[in-house]
Parts: sequence; C-alpha cells; structure tokens
Amino acid sequence: MSTSTATAVAHANIALIKYWGKRNTALNLPATGSLSLTLDALTTTTRVAFDPALSADDIRLNDQAADGRAAQRISGFLDLLHSHFQPDAAPRTRAQVISHNNFPTAAGLASSASGFAALALAGSHALGANADEAQLSMLARRGSGSAARSIFGGIVEMAHGERDDGLDCIAHPLHAPDFWDLRVLIAITDAGVKKVSSTDGMQLTTDTSPFYPAWVSGAEADLAAARQAIAARDFDALAAVTEFSTLKMHASALAARPGVIYWNAATLAAMHAIRECRAAGTPVCFTMDAGPQVKAVCTAAAVDEVAGMLRALPGVVDVIVSGLGAAARLRPAGDSPAG
Ligand code: PMV
Repeated sequence: MSTSTATAVAHANIALIKYWGKRNTALNLPATGSLSLTLDALTTTTRVAFDPALSADDIRLNDQAADGRAAQRISGFLDLLHSHFQPDAAPRTRAQVISHNNFPTAAGLASSASGFAALALAGSHALGANADEAQLSMLARRGSGSAARSIFGGIVEMAHGERDDGLDCIAHPLHAPDFWDLRVLIAITDAGVKKVSSTDGMQLTTDTSPFYPAWVSGAEADLAAARQAIAARDFDALAAVTEFSTLKMHASALAARPGVIYWNAATLAAMHAIRECRAAGTPVCFTMDAGPQVKAVCTAAAVDEVAGMLRALPGVVDVIVSGLGAAARLRPAGDSPAG
C-alpha cells in the first residue's frame, strides 16, 4: 500500500461576536452563534500523509515533535476523520502530520482555528474523501469550535444549531473578502503560550460564572446587530457591538471562580488608545480573545494611523496587519508545509 498524502492551507479568523461556552462538550457544540473575519495574513499549512509503515502518528508542529495534549488532539481528530469517512474500515493507518503556522502559536491568535481547518481539509483528502465545505466545517468544529469558521473566507457566521447531534452546527459565509475593505491589526503584547487555554477558560466560565447565563442570552441580539451593521457597512454600529461582545465575554470569564484574567497592562493601554482614536473620528474598534493580544479592526484608509498608534504603545512588541482572507484550500501535491 502506498502513502496517501494531501496538503492544505487555512487562515486564522477573529470573532467579532464571540463564541465562549459549549452546549455539548463531547461534540464541541457552542452555546451561542458567532461571527468572524477570516484573516489573510495568518495561515496554517498542514500536510497529512497516511503511511502503513508507521506504528504511531508522527506529528510535527512548527518543526518540533508534538507531544502531550496537542498530539492527542491531533491523533484524536484523525481518528474522527477515519470513523466519519471510513466507518467500516479496519483500524486506521498512522499518519505523518507536518504543520506550520506563520504566526505565534497558542497566544490567543486562533492557531487552533486555522490548524483544525487545515487538518480537516488535508486529512479528509488524504483519506480519499472529497467532503464539501459544510461537512468540513462540521468536522473542523470537533477539533476546535472556531475552526468551523476558518473553512470559509471573508465574513463568516457560525450557527449554534439546535440538533443534539450537531449536524446543523456549521459555519457559512456571509460576505466575500472584498465586500468591505476592512483591516485587522494584531497588537502582540506577549508572544508566550497563554496560561489558560480557551477550552479551559470557557469551561470554567460555564461552570462557575454568575454572568454566564446573561452572556448566552444576549448572543442572538448581538449577532443580529452585527449582521445588520455589516450589511450596511456601518462602522460605528459594528464597533459598538464588537466591543460589547468581547467585553461581555471577558466579564463573564473575570467572574469565574477563580477569575480568568487574559489581559496585561499593554492590553488595557491598547484598548484605551483605540477608544481615544475612535473618539477623534478614526473608524477603529478592539476585540480580544483568550489571550492578551489586542485586535484592532479598522477601515483600510485608517490602517497606517492605527498601526503607528499601536506600535508606539509601551508593551506592544509587534503589530501584524491583515486584510480579509480566502477559504481553506488544498495545495498541490509535493508542496512543502513550510512554504
Ligand atoms: O475554538 P476555541 O476552542 O479555541 O475557542 C475560541 C474562543 C474565542 O477565540 C475566545 C472566541 C471565538 O469565537 O473565536
């Protein structure tokens, strides 16, 4: 038997309306819908090669052998793909997985989103399956909730779904990348690995935060407001609901026991500076995920001003600028993941 190989590339995404908390942990079903921008500048490229000569999965992330929880999540995801596409087949062939991010991993930069989207696409093709995007989104969700959105480009909405089996819990594109010339600037305030993963942080919030029910019950209204603001390209309305969603997400996490604090001093400084900039008339707003980085969303015309403002802040170590990116896609056989 020969090896079966495929390589895929997927972009990270940043949620404007956040997902934070699950309605089913085993199937990774989100308690709320979410809405995101797919980011052109942040990519994961992953090559999967099923090889009968291997006795164990050989997983390399950014040129390092993966072990522990990261390796288990990836092997478990390949098991899931195998049981989905080849339910009657013998135990699955082990695989070599080589994956590269072009951005800092696990620092609240959505590496799991692009990572599991690329793995779903490359892994399913390496298994000989030609899944459609909805199916890939549903599968990617099992790896990481936000990964369901990275299957698509542009502006994407993820449904929380109603079904217990999660078959309606998939993302879909709302608008193509060129619908609105937005930019996302990622102010890196700490490139280290975050202390509380999104999985752990949202579980603790779900289990212990008195604010969690309010967070869940407000999500539909936030999604509707964001959809409307985007359709009208109304930046002020989008800024208001984007900041509302991220601040509520963090407020719910802060009120967990023990409270989950993702921010550092530079995170707060950037939030204040972005608000001052907006008050002075620049179309810019902030959003933060499960980490200390601040993502500024602005119009293309404002990008130089916002980048200069963020770079001048003490504690901001780097600023990555991105436009809106395309859907996950296969790369020609033989391409190296590092490329
Ligand atoms: O996909 P996960 O399990 O890494 O969770 C992502 C959670 C947030 O990034 C904080 C919000 C979101 O919707 O992406």
